[in-house]
Amino acid sequence: MTPNRTSDLVGEVDPALTERVTALLEQIETRLAEAAESDSAFVTEAAQHIINAGGKRFRPLLVVLAALLGRAADEEIVRAALVMELTHVASLYHDDVMDEADLRRGAPSANSRWDNTVAILVGDFLFARASTIVATLGTSYVDLQARTFARLVQGQIAETRGPAAGEDALAHYLQVVADKTGSLIAASTTFGGMVADFDSESLAALAAYGEEIGVVFQLSDDIIDIASDTSGKTPGTDLRAGVPTLPILLVRTSTDPADARLLELLDADLSADADLAEALGLLRAHSVMEDAREVIRDRAEVARAHLGPLPDGAAKDALATLCDAVITRSA
Ligand code: IPE
Ligand code: IPE
Ligand code: MG
Ligand code: MG
Repeated sequence: MTPNRTSDLVGEVDPALTERVTALLEQIETRLAEAAESDSAFVTEAAQHIINAGGKRFRPLLVVLAALLGRAADEEIVRAALVMELTHVASLYHDDVMDEADLRRGAPSANSRWDNTVAILVGDFLFARASTIVATLGTSYVDLQARTFARLVQGQIAETRGPAAGEDALAHYLQVVADKTGSLIAASTTFGGMVADFDSESLAALAAYGEEIGVVFQLSDDIIDIASDTSGKTPGTDLRAGVPTLPILLVRTSTDPADARLLELLDADLSADADLAEALGLLRAHSVMEDAREVIRDRAEVARAHLGPLPDGAAKDALATLCDAVITRSA
């Protein structure tokens, strides 16, 4: 998976599927920009800012592929995908405030281009636009989107609060990842299945696949935060904000004297660029990066196994290929 569009992958699976997916994603693109339009030119500009900056459109792709496992009307697929991407983008506006991030999708984050208040309110505006669209799909969609957003927000809150006294830090972290990221990706695959009128057993398989690939996706993202200089985000953002991620939690369990300096840095304030660069350098060379990648590989296989009961065909092959893509993007 390149930092560009995830849909590039589908091209390797089946030409007819590629054509259908590409056409749907193009429609989604146009409709996303329209959904962010407001009577106020400023609100339109601020709301389209992160949408137009790019993004992998991973959630829309999952809605589309899950729907194409069966039969569904284009308009319903497009609306379901819009709801998921708008909810995602809204959460990014808020997340960048929480994480004090300067860059998003290679562009200045809304909080850095304007300020925190603008970023929070524009996030709310986009969430409201997602709500308008989900209402047209039906109450079962509204219900799932609302439960998903509650879970996502609770994951973000749990991340900020950190583990309770005596709580295992790694277990806490994995729950945070499932809630803040797995939930919306599970909802995306489920929405796809819902527009294709799948039975509850297939919807459960789609939700389980989405949840697991969502966790792997976030674990991969955590590695990219440390390892990549070309992600469109500032490397070490999580580290500087003190957000624990898998490699850092693994290093924290180390009693090796060689890790003393790294542990000291991880406990220090990393606001100085030189300290952050030193911590990043030590982490990049550390064996915990490979340990984290192994967790990613194992969990990607779990995701793949959840596809078992779903109808065979090009869409299923593409969903299986995504399991490889989430591994290679941080490999
Ligand atoms: C970023 O999501 C936040 C996470 C849950 C990791 P993406 O990595 O899907 O971000 P975009 O949409 O491609 O920018
Ligand atoms: C983002 O988590 C999760 C949500 C937006 C719900 P992160 O803070 O880890 O994602 P990035 O690294 O900013 O994209
Ligand atoms: Mg963030
Ligand atoms: Mg965050």
